[in-house]
Amino acid sequence: MCGIVGYVGRSEAAPILLDGLRRLEYRGYDSAGVAIVDGDRVETRKCAGRIAELAKLMTARPPTGTYGISHTRWATHGKATDQNAHPHFDASGKLALVHNGVIENYQALKDELIQEGDNSFTSETDTEVLAHLVGKLYDASSGNGTSPVQTPKARLVNALRTALQQVIGTYGIALVHQDIPDFIVGARRGSPLVLGVGKEENFLASDVSAIVAYTRDAVYLNDFDVVAVERDKFEISSVAGEGSNYEVSKVEFTDEDIKKGDYPHYMLKEIFEQAGSVRDAMRGRLSPEECTAKLGGLNMTTAELRDVCRVVLTGCGTALHAGMIGEYILEQLAGIPTEIEYASEFRHRNTPMTRDTVVFAISQSGETADTLGAMRESKRKGYRSLGICNNVASTIARESDGGVYMHAGPEIGVAATKSFTSQVVILNLIGLLLGRMRHLSTSEGTQIIAALQSLPEQIEEVLNLSDQIKAIAKKYASASGMLFFGRQFNFPVALEGALKMKEITYLFAEGHPSAELKHGIIALVRPDLPSVFIAPDDAVFSKNVNNIEQVKARKGPVIAITSGEGAGRLAKLAEDIITVPKVPDFVSPILTVVPLQLLAYHLAVELGRDVDKPRNLAKSVTVE
Ligand code: M6R
Repeated sequence: MCGIVGYVGRSEAAPILLDGLRRLEYRGYDSAGVAIVDGDRVETRKCAGRIAELAKLMTARPPTGTYGISHTRWATHGKATDQNAHPHFDASGKLALVHNGVIENYQALKDELIQEGDNSFTSETDTEVLAHLVGKLYDASSGNGTSPVQTPKARLVNALRTALQQVIGTYGIALVHQDIPDFIVGARRGSPLVLGVGKEENFLASDVSAIVAYTRDAVYLNDFDVVAVERDKFEISSVAGEGSNYEVSKVEFTDEDIKKGDYPHYMLKEIFEQAGSVRDAMRGRLSPEECTAKLGGLNMTTAELRDVCRVVLTGCGTALHAGMIGEYILEQLAGIPTEIEYASEFRHRNTPMTRDTVVFAISQSGETADTLGAMRESKRKGYRSLGICNNVASTIARESDGGVYMHAGPEIGVAATKSFTSQVVILNLIGLLLGRMRHLSTSEGTQIIAALQSLPEQIEEVLNLSDQIKAIAKKYASASGMLFFGRQFNFPVALEGALKMKEITYLFAEGHPSAELKHGIIALVRPDLPSVFIAPDDAVFSKNVNNIEQVKARKGPVIAITSGEGAGRLAKLAEDIITVPKVPDFVSPILTVVPLQLLAYHLAVELGRDVDKPRNLAKSVTVE
C-alpha cells in the first residue's frame, strides 16, 4: 500500500528519499513523487507508474536540498495519474504533503474550502484537500494581533493539529513548508508511521524497512501522535496538543535481512526460508519436560487459559486461511469450540460471544485495516484480544492484550508464504498449550512436540522437489486456470493454493472442499483446466480418491499432493504426483502448502509475471 519516506539532515535528500521508496516498492503502488526544499522553494517531481520513471525525472532535473518528503501512492481517490500522485500542495504552493490512508469527509471539507474562495485544486484526491486545509490554517495563524505570536514551526504543527481535528478517516502524513527550513512534520492515525533517529539526521517512514539502512533506532508512533522533526531533535505530541509517551527501540532486523541475496525473487527466497522460520516460530516455546508449549506473551494465567471456552480467530487472505486451519487444530488438540471469521465481516457483524471467548487477530504485517478493526471491536466489547503477528512494532501487536510473535523475519514478497507456515505452527502451539490443560495426556503432548520438531527437516525435503514442481509448472503454462481441492485440515490449503495461483499468475483459480465437486464445480472440469488435489495419506484419503476419479472421468488433468502410500494408489489416476513426508493431520498443511507455493511461483515465472509485485496488489492493506 502507499509508502512515505521523509528526511531531514545534512546529506542530499534526493538519493535517500528515492532509495527509501525503492525499499517500499514491494508494498504496491501506482505512482510516486518527492518534494524537496531547495533553498527557498519546494521542488517536486512526481508521476504515474514505477519509481524508475520518477528516478528518470529526478535525473533529468535533479532537486537538491537536505530535507524533503516522498511517497508511493496506491490509488484510492482518483485514478493513478501524474496529477493525483503525491506530494500535494496547499493553495499557496509552499506547503507539500504526502498521505497514506483515507480522508472520509474530504468532500465536505473541500466544499467548505471552495465556498471560502479556494479554487486552486488540481487533483481528485482527498490528500490535496488536507494540504489546502493545513495551508489555510497555517497562513491564517500568521498573526491576527489578538493571540501571542508563535514561531513558524509551532504554527505549522498547530495548523496540522487543527486540521486533523476536523478530519474523519485514517492518515499517516509527512509535510514540509518552504518557509520553514530543516523541518518536517508527521502524524498518524490508523496508518503506520515510524521516526528513524539518526546522528544529525532524522527520518520518517511508513515502514521501518525504508530507513533501516540508515538507522536502527526507531520510534513507532501511536495513533494521534504528531511529530515535529529537525536534524538533531524531534518532539512528539498528540493531535490534541498534549505530551505523548514514546520509546526509542532497536529495529529487530538489519538491512541485510531485507536483501534478495542470490534468489531471483523475494518470494522464492521466503519459500526457501521456511525451514528456518518454522524453527524460529517454535524456538524456546516447546517444553518436552512438561509436554506442552510455553507462550508467556499471551499474558494469561494458567487459570485464565483453563477458563477459555471459545476461541474466535480472525484475519484476511492468507492469514484467514491459516486461521481456518487453526479452527481444526484448536478443536482437535484442545477440544475448544473455535470459529474463524473474515476480519472484514467480524468487525461489523456484532457476533454474539460468551464471556470466556478469546479472540486472536492473525496478521503478518499487524497493520491490515480490517484485522485491526476486528481486534479493536473485540477489545471494545471487552473480550481478551490477542495477536499472532510477525511485525513486532505493528499496531495490532501493540494494541493487543498479548499474543504470539511469528519471528519469521521480514516478508517482502507480496504473496505471503513463510508467514502462513509460521502462523500454522503457532496455532499448533496454542492448541498444544490449551489441550494439555484439558484432555491431552503427557504422551500425546510428547507426540505433538515430536511432530512439530520434525517439521524443519521435512520442509527441506519438500523444498528439494522444487525442480520437479518447476517441470509441472512448465507443462501447464498454457492452462486456462486451476482448481484446488482438499479435505479437513487441507481444505484451507486448497484455498491458499488457489490464492497464491491467482495473485501471482493472474490465472483463474478456485479452491474448494473436495466433496463440493459434485455440487456444481464439476461442471467446470475440462482438459485445459487442471485440478490440484491435496490428498495426503490420511483418514480422508479414500474420499479424495473418489473425487479424483470423478475428475478423471471427465478428462480433467490431476496434480496430486500426497504422502505415504498415497503415491502408489494414485499412480494410475494423477498425471503428476508430488509426495511430501507423511505427518499427523494437524501439521500436514505446513508441508502440503509448500508445493503449492512453488507451483504458483514457477508458473508465474514461466508466464513472465512480476512475481514480487503482482498487479493491483499491495503487501499490507491499510485501507478497508
Ligand atoms: O499482513 P496480513 O497478514 O494481515 O495480510 C493479510 C492479507 O492481506 C495477505 O495475507 C494477502 O492475502 C496476501 N497477499 C496473500 O498472499
